[in-house]
Amino acid sequence: MKPTDAELIRAAFKARSFAYTPYSHFKVGAALLAKNGMVYTGCNIENAGYTPTNCAERTALFKAVSEGVTEFTDIAIVGSLDGKKNTLVTGPCGVCRQALYEFCGPRLRVLMAKSENDYIETTLGDLLPYGFGPTNLEIEPGAD
Ligand code: THU
Repeated sequence: MKPTDAELIRAAFKARSFAYTPYSHFKVGAALLAKNGMVYTGCNIENAGYTPTNCAERTALFKAVSEGVTEFTDIAIVGSLDGKKNTLVTGPCGVCRQALYEFCGPRLRVLMAKSENDYIETTLGDLLPYGFGPTNLEIEPGAD
């Protein structure tokens, strides 16, 4: 059965507890709902070299894709400094918007949550207008 928004947000909070953030101390959790009903969670994983850091959203996405799951309907995201309550919602960074767009397209529901019942609901299309995706690379019928 499809999880409720609150359940998806709860899963994101649980994933956040595993965030590895010795450098920024900003912990993020994401829960990505696949069309098949499975939920894939992820946390941010930082690195002493800084650039190899992986965001929570991409951790969740790559876990799913690496298991053969490529269709998604919703993602819940929570983030805040370690030990602090979030005053702002955490939106996916630009790189994660692009990574998600590849598989989810503009219709993905994005829940940016402060708590299970305090969240902003938007779509990937609103967060990444005119997104560049697989269809942009398709050869148009009749072209050339
Ligand atoms: N971060 C995420 O995991 N997701 C986002 O959408 C925003 C940023 C992480 C990356 C880094 O570990 C920390 O938050 C501070 O930028």
